[in-house]
Parts: sequence; C-alpha cells; structure tokens
Amino acid sequence: MPTHYIQANTNGRLHPASEPSIAPLNRGFLYGDAIYEVWRTYHGVIFAWEEHWKRMRASARAVHMHLDIAPPQILEEIRRTVSAFRDRVPNSGELYIRLQVTRGAGPIGLDIALADKADFLLLVQPCPEVPKAREREGLRLSVATTMRRNPVQSLDPAWKTGNYLNNLLCLREARARGADDVVILNLAGEVTEASVANIGFVRDGKLVTPPLSAGILGGITRALLLDGIAAAAGIPVSEEPVQPADFGSMGECFLMSTTKDIVPVGEIDGVRFKLGPDSVASRLKRAFAEAAREYASSHPELAA
Ligand code: PDD
Repeated sequence: MPTHYIQANTNGRLHPASEPSIAPLNRGFLYGDAIYEVWRTYHGVIFAWEEHWKRMRASARAVHMHLDIAPPQILEEIRRTVSAFRDRVPNSGELYIRLQVTRGAGPIGLDIALADKADFLLLVQPCPEVPKAREREGLRLSVATTMRRNPVQSLDPAWKTGNYLNNLLCLREARARGADDVVILNLAGEVTEASVANIGFVRDGKLVTPPLSAGILGGITRALLLDGIAAAAGIPVSEEPVQPADFGSMGECFLMSTTKDIVPVGEIDGVRFKLGPDSVASRLKRAFAEAAREYASSHPELAA
C-alpha cells in the first residue's frame, strides 16, 4: 500500500488508488499490454502537454493500439482527478500525473483481436522530490552487469509501454550494491539510460548524451535540453555513443526525466563527477527551470 494518498480515475470513475481498478482479465495486467505517459506540473500548469501526447501516439502506433481517447477529453478527466486529489490533500504542491492506457480485457490469449476496448487509468500524486542531500551530493549509480537493455529490434525502448521488467531487474541489481539507480548498457556494451531517466555527461563543457540509436526512451526532458534549452544556456550538445571506459574522461554526469528534471550524479561505481552550483548540470537545471516558468505563464489553459 502507498504511504500517501494517490487519486485514481479508471475510465472516468474516481477512486483511491489503493482500491481495485481494472479487471483480472485486463491485458495490461496479464501481459504488460499497455502504454503510458507521465506529466508533471510546474507552477500548477501541466508541462509539455503536446510533447507527451506526440510520444503517446507514437507508442500506440508502435504496438498497434487504437487510441480512442483524445487530449481534450483526457484534460477534462485530469482536472476532475486533480480536483478530487486536492480535496483529499490540500496544499499538495506540484503534481505527478500518469496516464496508463491498456488494450482492454478479453478471453485469455495473446491475440490482440481478443481485446475488447481500451481502458484508461489516471493516477495523481505529489510530484516526488529528489531529497536535498541527493541534490547536493549527487546520485550514486552502478552499471548493471547481469542484464542489458532490450535491443531496438525487440521491444524498442523508445516505446513507452507497460513492460518495465527489464529496467526493474537492472535497478534491482544496482540497488543490491547500495546504488540509487542503475546505468543500463546495450548489447554492444554502450551506455543507454538509467531505470526511468535518460543520462547525460559533460565533457569539456559540452553536454554529451547517448543517441536514440543506442536503445533509449526519447525522453521529453532530454529532447527539450537538446533542442534549445542547452543552447540558450550557452552549452553545446552532442549525441554520441558512450562506453563505461569513457566515464573517467567525463567531468560531470546527470539524469534527466519529467519527475527529476535534472539531477546530478556524484559517482558511477567509484568514478566521481563534479558537482555544485558552478557545474554545467546546475546551469542546465536553472535554464530548464526558466523554460518551465515561461511555459507555465504562456499556457494558462493547461492549469490543473
Ligand atoms: N519515466 N527513460 C525511461 C526508461 C523512462 O521511463 C523515462 C521517464 C525517461 C525520461 O523521459 P521523460 O523526460 O520524458 O520523462 C527516460 C517516467 C518519468 C516515469 O516512468 O516515471
């Protein structure tokens, strides 16, 4: 059971997330036959609304799932869910908003023709905060040695699906060694990403991050940094393969995701990285916060 209240909305029905939602025959539950997105609010406004929808549509196309929900309808449902959440948890600050869409239920069997109708599930909770000590000292990461990221020719990591067992097991290995998060390699031994975040490095003042072809989720945070925010902060970018042997030549390392935005990494398996307010990662974080502030003030229609 969660330690804090999480508000759920199953196909329009509001209920606490600790209570039952989908049916036992739901394919998301049985086979991971689902896709999802996570938004967060900044200044009470849903951030990067369109970018997440674009990726959701791409995930749906990739797994041949028909998305019969439209953004205006979901925005309305998000508002109902957020309002129910705020009734239970006043002054809850910035929010985490998860939309999970499953192919529906049906007789047991993998054939997608057995599915009835797609289900949607919304989950709203406070946006998790990275503890201050971790922001200061940086995360400790460890490279997974027993498992690799699934290759793009299989369940492509670019699809944001309900299948996170690969990442979950990689994270388990790193956590067993006392690390906060994991660095997952692809079959070629190159760095892909962390368990639920993209990874970036700084070499000679430049943001260096693995390319999409390494087998990663095309993160929205990563894309926003690469497509403008980094340049606006005067930081050049480069998408290039990174190997664990390169860690020693990287001055900094950080993770990027919707919930974390940019969080510094202090070390990977004993290789230490620079931290602090003068770091490139801190400059990127400040530039990102400024972009999020501008987005919030120019999108009042996305207030939730
Ligand atoms: N995770 N890589 C993986 C495997 C992810 O699951 C995520 C996001 C990211 C970062 O993507 P974005 O910047 O679009 O959030 C990279 C979400 C936040 C989650 O599962 O909670």
